[in-house]
Formats: sequence, C-alpha cells, structure tokens
Amino acid sequence: MKKFLPYALFLTFMMSLVVGQLSASAEGSVKIQKVNKDTIIYEEPSTNSVEIGELAKGSFIIVTQVSKGWTHIQTPEQAGYVTSDVLVQVKSEGYLVIQKDGTTLFTAPSQNAQHVGQLYEGRVVYVYGTAPGGWSFVQYGEDTGYVATNALKKPVPTKKQITAPDGAVLRLTASPNGEVLGTIANKTTVQYYITLAGWAYVEVNDQKGYVKASELANIQLTNNKVYNKGVPAEKGAKKRVALTFDDGPDAKVTPQILATLKKYDAKATFFMVGKNVSRNTAIVKQVYEAGHEIGNHTSNHKKLTSLSIAGVKQEVNGTSNAIYTAIGQYPTVFRPPYGATNDQVRSIMTIPSILWSIDTLDWKHHNPDKILASVKASVKDGSIILMHDIHQTTANGLDNVLLYLQKQGYEFVTVSDILQ
Ligand code: NI
Repeated sequence: MKKFLPYALFLTFMMSLVVGQLSASAEGSVKIQKVNKDTIIYEEPSTNSVEIGELAKGSFIIVTQVSKGWTHIQTPEQAGYVTSDVLVQVKSEGYLVIQKDGTTLFTAPSQNAQHVGQLYEGRVVYVYGTAPGGWSFVQYGEDTGYVATNALKKPVPTKKQITAPDGAVLRLTASPNGEVLGTIANKTTVQYYITLAGWAYVEVNDQKGYVKASELANIQLTNNKVYNKGVPAEKGAKKRVALTFDDGPDAKVTPQILATLKKYDAKATFFMVGKNVSRNTAIVKQVYEAGHEIGNHTSNHKKLTSLSIAGVKQEVNGTSNAIYTAIGQYPTVFRPPYGATNDQVRSIMTIPSILWSIDTLDWKHHNPDKILASVKASVKDGSIILMHDIHQTTANGLDNVLLYLQKQGYEFVTVSDILQ
C-alpha cells in the first residue's frame, strides 16, 4: 500500500478530470512463474534444510534468483527456496481495471486475505492466470496479488507511431523516474492503449511500458489515393471493419452514436460537414477525445466534380480549418460528397480520399433493420461501412449492427487503421 498511496490520490484526482485514463506499469524486471505441483519451501537450497512453508499447485510466485536446480522465490507472505522443476513459465496480458471505485489487490484469492493495495479504474495490470472463485493473479509495478476477475477488461488498442527523432524512451511506470526498459525507434508503429497525465501505455513486439504521450502521433497517410476498402488483418489477428458516419455532427444523434460505440469499445471515423462543425464544436471535441478519427466531408456538401478548382479548395480548406479550430488537429482523411472525385479534386488533396465497401443506404430507407441486413449481406475483413450520424434511425439501429459484428469476431477500427 505504501508506494501506491500518493499516486493513488493523484490518480483519483485525475480520474475526476478525465474518464478512462490510466496509471500502471509494465512487467519490467519482475519475473513471475507458476507452481506446477504442490511443493515445499526450504530455508536454504537443500532438501536437508528447514522447511518453512508450502506452495499449492497453481500458485504464482516471484522469482528472485535461480541456481543449480534451485529457485529462490517470494510470495506476499513468504520467501525461500523451491526446486526449479516445480515451476513453469507463464505469459502475461495487459488488462484494464474497469471497476468504478477501483478494486483491492489481495495476497491470496480470498476476500479475507491481506490487502496489498487498491488498484484504481483505468490502470493497466498484467494478468498471469486465474484462481478458482473468480480471481486473477496480477502484477502492478512491483506489486503482485489477486483481484476479482470481473473488475478487469481486455482493452482494445489502436495503432500509433513514435515521432521522436532519437527514439522514445520506454519506461516501466508513467513517470520520468520510471525504470528504463529500452528505446523505441522513431517511426515505429506501436499498439497504443491509454494515456495518463502525459504518459502513453504502449506495446510493441515483446516490449510493454510507457512513453511520453507527446512522442506518439496518429498514423497518417499523406497520399491523395482513393480507397474503398481496408487491408486484410494481420495473420492471427481479428477481422476488422471501419464504421464511418457522414454529414454530422448532429447535436442529438452524434452523442447517441458515441454512447453506443463506447459500449462496444468501438473506434469509428466521422466525416464531418464544415457548417455542422462550426455549430457543434463541443461535440467535435467529444468525438475526437473518445479516440475516433475525424474526416473532412467539405463545408457545404457540394458535388466537387461540378466546381472550379478554386471552389473545391474553398470547400475542402474551409472544413479543415473549422476542424482545426475545434480540436487543434487537422482531419486525417477526406470523403468527397456522393463519392464524386476526379483528377482535379485529387490534385489538391494531401490526405487519402475514402469511399466505402458497404453503403447501408440509411439516409434513404430510415430503417434500422435494413441497415443490419445490408451489413450482414456483404461484410468482410477490411470493409468500410457507410452510415450517417444525422438520422435518428441510424443511431437506433447501431447497437444491433455492432452486436452482430462483434459476434462475428470483428474489431472496430478507424479508417486510417484499416488502410494499413
Ligand atoms: Ni455526405
């Protein structure tokens, strides 16, 4: 508890400001193994030495030293030697603490065990395995113990890129004093989970930990190509779809769509019309801060292929600037109204133009069941799905679409993510 407390208080304060942030740590130098069969703990590395305790099969221990067939181990309650052959390697996975008031870390899988500390909402912990009764053995920094499994959730990462000319220093904890685990080279693509007080938790290959959030950027394509689908998921990874919502933001419908996306941990892309951006800057911010991608859909939704080049520039730049005013970032993708583009339109683009693989025709039929039917009929890995966040019926139908796609094993990512 001692080393958690000041940070925990700080964290509670942060939580009141921003929902979904996190503190946490990576595995670092703490090495955890699992006990493969019931065994005795000896005081010295010899079966003739004093027996100081027992370990049940399935227990987790911290390895402190290994030599000549003996391993020195530590648990919250005891320390000593066991024969190395009773121990097996275990892999860990990062999970988020989702319990609103946090959850207690116990020394053993029981409510009656001693408290190690409190883990607050938004922290990333490493789960090494489970114990009967709904318990998970976790590591947080140098602390280990058991928490209720239902207080944890596997987070969905998004891809980001390191932007630090000399590389980004990866640390064990979200602090400038955190143990240095290594350096991640500039331009490396990483899996990004969450940010706390300027530190971003990332994973790349076998490395996990924190880099400065300022050294991470959205992956952005800077070409003027036209895309209508994404690339297939990497081998062994989940299938992906990119949900896109056009013509908003709308003061009523967009927040409902955001709430449904959140329920499914879904990331989406919103192609916004400039005049609606200026009217609803608070909602633009809300969309951006929830981790969705913001796209440009022109200022007045005109058919660009009928305009002069000056007219096209005005339609595109007006919305780019309105979005910049709202969130301090320019849009990363563009969608021409009606999908109408040509060489003249592309000649002024510096970001990709995104069409779609599935047109739900939600604007035409205003029927939630038909949205689902069109998705069911044609969805596949890499699909870009077109909907509109200005129709109440689209918001009403979204939950069923997400439920269906989730059951089919899809992950919901942004357009920029699905293009690479
Ligand atoms: Ni449109």
